[in-house]
Amino acid sequence: MNDVRPDAVIILAAGEGTRMKSTLPKVLHPIGGAPLLGHAMRAASGAGAAETVVVIRHQRERVAAFVDEFNGTAERACRTADQDEIKGTGRAVECGLTALPEDLGGTIVVTMGDVPLLSAETLGDLTRAHTEAGAAVTVVTSVLDDAKSYGRIVRDADGHVERIVEFKDATEDERGIREINSGIYAFDAAVLRRELANVTTDNAQGEKYLTDVLQLARSAGGTVAAHVLTDLWQTEGVNDRVQLASLGKELNRRTCERHMRAGVTIVDPDTTWIDVDVTIGQDTTVLPGTQLLGATTVGGEATVGPDVTLTDCEVGDGAHVKRTEGHLAVIGAGATVGPFSYLRPGTELGAKGKIGGFVETKNAWIGEGAKVPHLTYAGDAVIREGANIGAGTIFANYDGVDKHRTVIGRHSFVGSDTVLVAPVEVADGAYVAAGSALTDAVGPGQLAIARGRQRTIDGWVAKQRPGTPTEAAARAAATSPSPETTTESSEDPQ
Ligand code: UD1
Ligand code: CA
Repeated sequence: MNDVRPDAVIILAAGEGTRMKSTLPKVLHPIGGAPLLGHAMRAASGAGAAETVVVIRHQRERVAAFVDEFNGTAERACRTADQDEIKGTGRAVECGLTALPEDLGGTIVVTMGDVPLLSAETLGDLTRAHTEAGAAVTVVTSVLDDAKSYGRIVRDADGHVERIVEFKDATEDERGIREINSGIYAFDAAVLRRELANVTTDNAQGEKYLTDVLQLARSAGGTVAAHVLTDLWQTEGVNDRVQLASLGKELNRRTCERHMRAGVTIVDPDTTWIDVDVTIGQDTTVLPGTQLLGATTVGGEATVGPDVTLTDCEVGDGAHVKRTEGHLAVIGAGATVGPFSYLRPGTELGAKGKIGGFVETKNAWIGEGAKVPHLTYAGDAVIREGANIGAGTIFANYDGVDKHRTVIGRHSFVGSDTVLVAPVEVADGAYVAAGSALTDAVGPGQLAIARGRQRTIDGWVAKQRPGTPTEAAARAAATSPSPETTTESSEDPQ
């Protein structure tokens, strides 16, 4: 029965989340590259829900804006429903129902916006168990050593679920129960609609409790079942930033494990952070201290790390990237990058190209096999196939008002310590002498030298720096050959 899907999922996300102590709504705090709510929405969509409703209230505009953004990339759009002044999880679900077709029947799953590790598979399992049992309500439970302030599952003498009692309403005996309500359920749609109308606010918190539906459904003759989960992380919610970090770490551990099982070597998962959307090809090695973030994709047989942070980057097969920061950059197959380089948006390094140490690039298209090996800033640059940029070259792209482009032609050679004052073009097959400040175009096959010619003044040190160690060294050098020269001439006849 693999095709059992929830007919609708209602995600509760109207609460304030005061313990986060944040101006950002709790459900928008991210782990693994997506807000908590995004994880809940993915699980719903992964379980194949025909309809998904997110119930909002606290900072509704910001949360609704995220739902819209998510819908832009999702197969099925989620709706939002506003919760009114009446408090409680039961009221939240009632408000959620108003966003669904009135005649929607079948199974409605309720989850929470702040439970990010709950998987689509678990929602599928829950729906299947609920359907097979013909239950009115199935609640996801777990058994904890320390049941904290969770709602407790009260079972009858035969072990059937009788009701849920909130911690604040529980007796001392009930508080001793270790089976807890995760807050995730599958409901028969008709039962849910009918019994929510009967729920009151007569309890310790004066709220409309969703949990009361279980007892009411049972009194009306329905079956109430429990779906016990042993993977406790999946039902854990985020209430504060300590839990945010611990769930974030666990999510990352699971993500790393998924990649390792698919054939990626991760030398140290403890210091490797991989966002949930990242893809990595087989036989790629990820070295310690690496963060692969956003929509980054890495090909196969590549090596990334140590100490690399890539956000929304594309790394080709067999590329090597070490100690580098990159954002919206493309690194071609077999290319090498780093150490200590900074690839800014619009960087495109061709296959087998090289960006070496201490290089910064921005809007730089670097062709196949082209090399920018040392200490360079390349902004608004086109460096065509096979070109070589000497150490310390600066692409001076900004005149203080506008940015301009520099083009270096195929297999051209820019000498070290050159300033390319944009806009300027070096044609294919040309040379620029080291130390040039280039302002004019260079044609194919030409050598451009744009610097002062060397003058060498005899006797300057003796005249201008008498009595210094430099002058003494000059005097000594004039009367006897230097030690290196002596060694070379005696041992190397050439
Ligand atoms: C709820 C359950 C409790 C369970 C626990 C699991 C009830 C009455 N109690 O308690 O049995 O053990 O979850 O975490 O359901 N929300 C709204 N609107 C509201 C109130 C809450 O949307 O008016 C949302 C919150 O944003 C949150 C979720 O519902 O995502 C749970 O709310 P919370 O106040 O944390 O419920 P608990 O008291 O923890
Ligand atoms: Ca809670």
